[in-house]
Amino acid sequence: MNQNAVLPNLGFGLRLRADYLPSFIGSEPELDWLEIITENYLGANEETLDQLDKIRSNYPIVMHGISLAIGSPWPLDQAYLNQLKKLVDRVNPAWISDHLCWKGADDVQGQLLPLPYSEDTLEHVVTRINQVQDFLGRQILLENVPIEQKSSQEIPEVEFIREVADRSDSLILIDVGNLLASSLSQEFSAIDYINQIPAGRVQQIHLPDITFETSSDGNCDASPRIIDPIWKIYTEVLDRFGLITTMIEREDTIPTLKGMLCDIKKIRKAALSHMENG
Ligand SMILES: [Fe+2]
Repeated sequence: MNQNAVLPNLGFGLRLRADYLPSFIGSEPELDWLEIITENYLGANEETLDQLDKIRSNYPIVMHGISLAIGSPWPLDQAYLNQLKKLVDRVNPAWISDHLCWKGADDVQGQLLPLPYSEDTLEHVVTRINQVQDFLGRQILLENVPIEQKSSQEIPEVEFIREVADRSDSLILIDVGNLLASSLSQEFSAIDYINQIPAGRVQQIHLPDITFETSSDGNCDASPRIIDPIWKIYTEVLDRFGLITTMIEREDTIPTLKGMLCDIKKIRKAALSHMENG
């Protein structure tokens, strides 16, 4: 499966939300790439797909899914996979990702449950990733989901994630916010975790809110607060993996596109400065 395929570093991007769409029609906001939520476009009408084609001609696009449920105990949803493949063929994304999780039987959209990290789960997940990658004819990325409650695991999360990627030749999307949440509940070091993941397996980062020294909307020059735990983990990511495709992810409060572009500017500048000066 695409052994040794090298996917590009796309730079700094954001998720294309419906309310940002008008700004991408007829103008080209300053950012490197866009992530779309796969499910928003499955079964979309031609008009919507045409609109996406136009945006696609100006920016690389990656597809991020929430429904694959790679670790669920029941069979993979072939109807979903068929739709996914059709969309992949149409959009031709730089890559596609989903979550290293499972979903309950009630199939609540967006429900991403952490897996029990055991040897049995590992084998189960690897088999299913192989099936998906064979069907789609490309590698997939899987994102770490947050564990909110202390739980005892047979295998530490970082080992599980590393083994899943190695055994299935899949790639990793590290969500720094999810990693911080899991490290706090499971009492492990997020920095050690980053350092135990092989560099060649990590393709993308989701970066949540970072606090800046000054954060007024008009000032895009502010630096991240050095003590911000998210910034601490992200600088470790940069040290280990180099400049890597990063999406600024806001889930609680969604800023305006102008605010997001400002955040991208700040993070890009801070990341480049970190790479130059340490
Ligand atoms: Fe994420």
